[in-house]
Amino acid sequence: KPITIIGMPMDLGQGRRGVDMGPSAIRYASAQRLLEQLGYEVEDIGDLPVPSPESIQIGEPKLKYLSAIRQVCEHLADTVSSVVERKRFPLVFGGDHSMSIGTIAGVSRHYENLGLIWFDAHGDLNTGETSPSGNIHGMSLAVSLGTGHTDLVRIGGYFPKVRPEHTVIIGARELDPGERTLIKEMGIKVFTMHEIDRIGMARVMEEAISIVSRGTDGVHLSLDLDGLDPKDAPGVGTPVPGGITYRESHLAMEMLAEAGIITSAEFVEVNPILDRENQTAKVAVALIGSVFGMKIL
Ligand code: ARG
Ligand code: MN
Ligand code: MN
Ligand code: MN
Repeated sequence: KPITIIGMPMDLGQGRRGVDMGPSAIRYASAQRLLEQLGYEVEDIGDLPVPSPESIQIGEPKLKYLSAIRQVCEHLADTVSSVVERKRFPLVFGGDHSMSIGTIAGVSRHYENLGLIWFDAHGDLNTGETSPSGNIHGMSLAVSLGTGHTDLVRIGGYFPKVRPEHTVIIGARELDPGERTLIKEMGIKVFTMHEIDRIGMARVMEEAISIVSRGTDGVHLSLDLDGLDPKDAPGVGTPVPGGITYRESHLAMEMLAEAGIITSAEFVEVNPILDRENQTAKVAVALIGSVFGMKIL
């Protein structure tokens, strides 16, 4: 399937500058060339506009930049949706994780039962009420499941975008109290670092693949680079030690490629300012290679 790259220089969902340069950093690490070497037809439609935080009002401290985030996510949703309509695979480069509200709104328009893989150190399951930071990048999974501020939940004109039984979180190791409550209430399957250590990434992925493909007609991969260990992916705004290794993350991507279930993907939270020699974007591109079927032999 042909691929369309979309850059989303979103940095309104968290407090550190530089993540708006994530899409450039991933492009600089030769994402398009790698995909073309793998035999794909690739187009890059460039970056969507995002206002700079200095130029707008922060608004409510419990939901910082709510109104601007809503607007750019509506735009991203429409853009992603038109890519799916053109029978192309949407591959979105971020940008902070609040952008997923838009990506998922765009794809789920075309899939009645979308499966979702949330690869992340965090749950991103806060609401304006439970968030310790007011940063919307910590709320985007909750919003996609239909929980949170109505302005966000209704992006795209309908909700919820995904159901908890079609959702898995992989790599979690930092959850806020309100997020734990929501996980229990909704019954979301979470493979924490404990499960990855205990049963290994191979079994985690077998189980995850079976959950997201049961009763679904498409699967979105939302990969937050902070799911990896900060030693392997240091260029992220909210690093948490004890993460998924480079090798485990490749195995995960390779198993997704073999299963052939992924219908859209995004690679988010790459912040080259906090990085060393663009290492995190290079890791993102290597993982993109694996999830699109790159093999050594
Ligand atoms: N749980 C914290 C918060 O809500 C951190 C969220 C980090 N999210 C992310 N996409 N990196 O503020
Ligand atoms: Mn995260
Ligand atoms: Mn945060
Ligand atoms: Mn995240």
